[in-house]
Amino acid sequence: MYIESLFPELNEISDTALREKVINVFLRAMELGEWDNIEGIPFTLLIEDCPINLVAHTRLTTQMAQKIGELAEQITKINKDFLVAGALLHDVGKLVEYSRSDKGNFLKSQLGDLFRHPAIGMHLCLSEGLPYEIAHICLAHSSEGNKLKRTPEAWIVHHCDFICFELAKLR
Ligand SMILES: [Fe+2]
Repeated sequence: MYIESLFPELNEISDTALREKVINVFLRAMELGEWDNIEGIPFTLLIEDCPINLVAHTRLTTQMAQKIGELAEQITKINKDFLVAGALLHDVGKLVEYSRSDKGNFLKSQLGDLFRHPAIGMHLCLSEGLPYEIAHICLAHSSEGNKLKRTPEAWIVHHCDFICFELAKLR
């Protein structure tokens, strides 16, 4: 119930089996990152005094993606379940990429030095049996996707993520 309480957007995923797998990815990432809760994790380590945390950023990116996804239907077919699941999971790898020092500072984990969160997110999605299309959104949401042929859902999440990032930097 913890993950559901943080991310009400999970209810927008119509496929209940898919929704469960998305929750399981979050729980697995929490386990790997050894987090008791995730509310205090920053959205990024690249912006000092960032105005939003990771949970808020994830929700905002998902809400933006849903709205753009509705409009984008005029251009191309959008799989709404994939879009919402991918948006919710796009940064889940940060739960493994980041860790907390004894002093309470957030920093890169040992694993985070080896793999960035897009790759970790892709791995977690595939490990939990999520569709390749959702793993692709995780991998391709950041610069890792620049050499890939992004799906429509991945393009939407990629841009929504960067809108959040660029606007947060302006503060
Ligand atoms: Fe993000």
